[in-house]
Amino acid sequence: MKVRKILHVVLALCLAVAVVTSIADLTAGEKHKPAALTMEQKMMMKNMAMKNMDKYMASMDAMKGLPKHLKQTQDAAIKWGEELFNSKSALSTNGQACASCHPGGGTTGGEAETPMASEATGKPYKLPVPTLVGSAATFPKYKVPNDAVVDLTDMENNCIMMFMAAQPLDKKSPEARALTSYVASLSNDDKVSVGAVPEMMKKMMMDMK
Ligand code: HEC
Repeated sequence: MKVRKILHVVLALCLAVAVVTSIADLTAGEKHKPAALTMEQKMMMKNMAMKNMDKYMASMDAMKGLPKHLKQTQDAAIKWGEELFNSKSALSTNGQACASCHPGGGTTGGEAETPMASEATGKPYKLPVPTLVGSAATFPKYKVPNDAVVDLTDMENNCIMMFMAAQPLDKKSPEARALTSYVASLSNDDKVSVGAVPEMMKKMMMDMK
């Protein structure tokens, strides 16, 4: 009798473990498998690092911080990003600039129409335009349209596709890096708070209740 009970407990435990691990497999999605670098990649990394390192060490400022000619690369990315942000044609096919909705990185205080119709009303679904000041410090975060945790560049691509009727930027492109540098610079000195929801979004959710 006792042995049977123990067997039952063991069986129940096995079942529980099997269920939990299969749920974990489902939620983890495809697993990343690290692979070794090829010889070419190893050489490329070495050459790239040495080329820049020589340039860096050749600078008189090397010991004081980032030398001017390298700091310019960073500043130039932010400046170019700001130009892209304000352009009505660089990232869109409908005459919208990022700045049309987020002037100076801030907010119009208005709403933006999405191409999706609300299932409840049948009318275009509208969203309040959040300010981007401090926004970068809340990424990565969960976003409903992606049903995933996304980074800042993914979010910019959401806006490009949803509101600017254009193809998303290749995340590795210099344009994407510049735009993200500018948008991130709007959060300089802000405290990182991963996943935080903008105040006005919270208000919208409260109003909908
Ligand atoms: C037509 C108006 C409109 C345009 C144009 C637009 N956005 Fe947005 N943006 C929004 C709205 C509305 C949201 C809120 C969407 C949401 O949370 O799902 C938003 C959200 C964001 C967020 C996330 C804010 C947060 O804290 O969660 C970022 C970052 C952002 N936009 C960047 C950009 C960039 C960069 C561009 C230009 C490439 C751009 N947006 C163009 C309306 C716009």
